[in-house]
Amino acid sequence: MIVTIDGPAGAGKSSAARQLAHRLGFEFLDTGAMYRAVTLAARAADIDARDEAALAQLLDGLRLEMPDDKVLLNGADVTLAIRDPDVTAATGQIADSPVVRRWLGARQREIAAGRDMVCEGRDQGTVVFPDAACKFFLVADPVERARRRQAELAAKGTTVSLEDLLAAQTRRDERDAARDLAPMRPAADALQLDSTQLTLTQVVERMEMEVHRCRTGASISSTKSSGSSAIPPSR
Ligand code: DC
Repeated sequence: MIVTIDGPAGAGKSSAARQLAHRLGFEFLDTGAMYRAVTLAARAADIDARDEAALAQLLDGLRLEMPDDKVLLNGADVTLAIRDPDVTAATGQIADSPVVRRWLGARQREIAAGRDMVCEGRDQGTVVFPDAACKFFLVADPVERARRRQAELAAKGTTVSLEDLLAAQTRRDERDAARDLAPMRPAADALQLDSTQLTLTQVVERMEMEVHRCRTGASISSTKSSGSSAIPPSR
């Protein structure tokens, strides 16, 4: 069974996906990490993100593995290196590349084939797994997302202004949503959840409830839409 979680950066997708997978006894696939890993490889090979032929050649010889929360690039552990701010900034351009999206989409389907998996990203419910049994689109207020990111960075000893974080986040959101190929948007059959006023546990509990509904064939149809409706927050 495939469960997809898409949505913008900072809405809490990764944490929710990881915890939901754990509760369900499923595996977890962080597809953003895969885009980051290809970006790292392209940078190491000094390839321009717009050079489709060079990217195709790079991918031809690339071995990308995602064992237990780790990212291995040609056997080397790049789990930490892909979180570098320079890689984060460069990943948007690589994610625009049709050749990269096709290649990674195929890898994602290969990895998930025959497994129970929670797949998290931007296009999982729309493009990569359109037939997924249960789909979520997780959103949150932009200022709250930037605040969460600021707190995360502060915990690591880095101080960044809220304005700078918000500006970078807006640029990434716009780029992800405006992409010609596989733009970030909710699948028509995705349940949209707004995490602004929910704790992580509340988000995961709602998701788990919905997965059980999907499994039994029922669904909260009134809350499913591609519009802005969301399960109202309960505190
Ligand atoms: O979720 P993240 O911040 O690790 O994602 C890194 C980048 O990859 C971000 O620019 C969005 C892009 N991405 C994508 O285009 N499609 C996905 N399925 C996952 C991530």
